Amino acid sequence: MKQNNIISILKNNPIIPVATIDELSKVDEYYKTLVHQNINCIEITLRNDISWDAIQMFKKKYGSSFKVGVGTITSKNQIDKCKDIGVDFMVSPGYTPTLIDCFEESNIPFLPGISTPSEIIDGINKNLKYFKFFPANIFGGLKALITYQSVFKGIYFCPTGGLNSSNFDDYLNLSNVISVGGSWLLNE
Ligand code: 3PG
Repeated sequence: MKQNNIISILKNNPIIPVATIDELSKVDEYYKTLVHQNINCIEITLRNDISWDAIQMFKKKYGSSFKVGVGTITSKNQIDKCKDIGVDFMVSPGYTPTLIDCFEESNIPFLPGISTPSEIIDGINKNLKYFKFFPANIFGGLKALITYQSVFKGIYFCPTGGLNSSNFDDYLNLSNVISVGGSWLLNE
């Protein structure tokens, strides 16, 4: 299974909300907001001191009906912690060959981030097929992805960064986009 079966997460969740939780009380609030929008997954970023507590709380309270992923992964230690908690998927904003090996060995579905053709080529040679395209709005957005359709056949993306309620559909309609991510569902 490629990338520990990340395709099952992407296919079942065409929209992946990205949440930075700065107060634990937001765990319940965000869960309710998302369920109300028929969304059953969340990527919680590692961007502040309470991120791990929020991830653990979300997983414990709602993990039976929700896919709880961790974003902003940049180190092996963080991957190990994800294993201990038993998170459902992992997302990195970038691509490094070293981390790919750790991701593979974790047995947890994972999605590395890319923003340039060279990184995609590197990933392809590491047997990867699915990438977060980040930050999509800065690295060419729709136009870049349309170009990648013919350049990188059989490679699929989850664009995030600058997506919102009025443009996410344009991304989802592309043949090389399986799902999209972003914070707009919790912030707009
Ligand atoms: C991410 O980590 O995927 C981004 O921070 C999400 O970007 P957005 O806040 O522009 O949606």
